[in-house]
This record gives sequence, C-alpha cells and structure tokens, in this order.
Amino acid sequence: MTGEQLLQHAVGARDHAVAPFSQFKVGAALLTTSGKLYTGCNIENATYGLTVCAERVALWKALSEGERSFTRMAVASDSEPPAAPCGACRQLLWEFCGDLEILVGNASGVKESHRLAGLFPRPFDRRSL
Ligand code: THU
Repeated sequence: MTGEQLLQHAVGARDHAVAPFSQFKVGAALLTTSGKLYTGCNIENATYGLTVCAERVALWKALSEGERSFTRMAVASDSEPPAAPCGACRQLLWEFCGDLEILVGNASGVKESHRLAGLFPRPFDRRSL
C-alpha cells in the first residue's frame, strides 16, 4: 500500500471522529508488517480527560487483534501544518511499534513524512528500566 493510500484510509477514518467538544477531527491508519490495516478516530466524552486520540484507537485495535509488528502510520487532520501525534501517543507508538514511519496530512493536501525516532528523541522505554 502506498503512503498516499494509507493517508486516504486515515482521511476516511476521520469521518467517524467523535469530537463534539473540540470539533477537531482526526483519523489514523496503522499498517502492520504483514500488510493489514487498522484505523482509528479520536473519541471525546463529557469528562474531556478520557478522550482518546485517533492514533491510540488504531493502535489499541491492532494490539487487541494480536498484531505486534508495524511499519507505518498515517494521520489526517485539518490543521496547518498537519497535526502530528501528541506526546502521549508518541510514547505508546514508540513502545509498541518502534521507529514507525509517520505520514501526516491535512485537508489542503499538505503532507509530511516523519520517523518516530525523530519526533520522539531520547525516549524512556523498557531498556530504561
Ligand atoms: N487528537 C488526536 O486524536 N490526535 C492527535 O494527534 C492530536 C489530538 C485529538 C484529541 C482531541 O479529541 C482533539 O484532537 C483535540 O485535541
């Protein structure tokens, strides 16, 4: 699957966002090493603090289906520059996916490609314990 196709899946997942409080919709698409796709959207609720980001929804879906090896994630939003994963998601993506390629895009067609190791330098992980 091309990066562009993966981003299109993230755009599709964004349509399902439950974001009545922030109105900020995000979609994510996570690709496994074997080529399977898991998507997610952000899900907000009245406590605000229990909100789950799109990236984490996709990650939890994949892990809960037994997936353990990942290559790429695409994130779709409508901000400029395109939103990149928040700090909490970077931590979890690092621990469960390692140095993922992360493609981010927005509705104007702006796209960026990042490596997680660049977005999340000097991590704390199991090797630190
Ligand atoms: N959000 C995500 O889903 N992913 C990100 O990368 C950044 C932020 C969500 C959380 C919340 O529902 C809304 O965007 C505003 O922060």
